[in-house]
Amino acid sequence: MKRILVTGASGLLGLNFCYFFHGKYDVFGVVNTTNLSGLPFKTIRCNLLSHSAADLLDEVKPDVILHCAAMANIDQCEKNPNDAKEINAVYPGLLAAQAARRKIKFIHISTDAVFDGENCGDKGYREDDPPNPISRYAETKLQGEQFVLDSNPNALVARVNFYGWSTGGKRSLVEFFYNNLSAGNSVNGFSDVYFSTMYVHFLADILDEMIGLDAHGIYHVFSADYQSKYAFGVSVAEKFGFDPNFVRAVSWKDGGLTAKRSPNLIMNTEKLRNILGHELPTQKESLEYFYQDYQTGLREKIQGFVKQAKEE
Ligand SMILES: NC(=O)c1ccc[n+]([C@@H]2O[C@H](COP(=O)([O-])OP(=O)(O)OC[C@H]3O[C@@H](n4cnc5c(N)ncnc54)[C@H](OP(=O)(O)O)[C@@H]3O)[C@@H](O)[C@H]2O)c1
Repeated sequence: MKRILVTGASGLLGLNFCYFFHGKYDVFGVVNTTNLSGLPFKTIRCNLLSHSAADLLDEVKPDVILHCAAMANIDQCEKNPNDAKEINAVYPGLLAAQAARRKIKFIHISTDAVFDGENCGDKGYREDDPPNPISRYAETKLQGEQFVLDSNPNALVARVNFYGWSTGGKRSLVEFFYNNLSAGNSVNGFSDVYFSTMYVHFLADILDEMIGLDAHGIYHVFSADYQSKYAFGVSVAEKFGFDPNFVRAVSWKDGGLTAKRSPNLIMNTEKLRNILGHELPTQKESLEYFYQDYQTGLREKIQGFVKQAKEE
């Protein structure tokens, strides 16, 4: 069984990846400040910025690295631009270089936010369209992509946008809608912000396929279609049996957000479809997969990894 090192294993994406990959891979997850227990995979606790990347790889000896750790909170990056640059840009380049030296497959998670969202058209942004980051977060993530590919041309840079259940229950947009609607609260959904988001379980399945194909370079890993965040909220309400009228359509300009967001992030996935040789899931299929995992208790499972830690 191949060994995979997943950084950011306490975060929304990394924890879900570790959970879906265990059994298929020998999973080692890197956690930093978050306390988790009862996990079905191995963990290493370290602050990546104060631990040598070479030592980490010598300790774990992975076949594959899935680098999810980041400062992913947009407003936090605005407040701490130097820290954001260290973890989002400089460190990924260092880890990718160490991976190249050891011939370890390196997958770097990036974001659709590298684009400004002003001119993608109906066909969406392609991998070779010029990025134009409009926040510190996006700027540092774009630098991270460049540093990774400069030091490791065989690396895979996956630009993504995703949702799923998180340990704290608040990290993901789907949880925002689920939490409020299940409590009977009305919520705002941006009707002028479009995205091609994907459920993390599909994302894990597709990245696994890409590892098998030894894909490298930049890829857009997104749903086959796009919708507004308002439409997404309505679809969540309908799927879970909540009243869709509780989702109000508003403009992002009235949302009171601190850092600027890219409004129109429709992503072109032709390059990915060509290498995979099949179609990508639609947003409807993503939500169905998410709902099926919910019905089998995934939400409680993910949140239980934290609850168990508190009970100890
Ligand atoms: N969330 C989104 O909507 C979104 C969209 C597109 C792309 N992305 C990208 O997807 C990736 C994962 O995002 P996410 O939302 O899952 O993030 P998240 O929930 O905020 O988790 C961040 C993870 O990074 C770890 N981390 C941060 N600094 C670290 C350090 N110095 N040393 C070790 N670990 C450190 C955290 O560990 P502790 O919590 O244990 O400290 C945590 O596990 C990021 O690359 C992000 O840019 C996210």
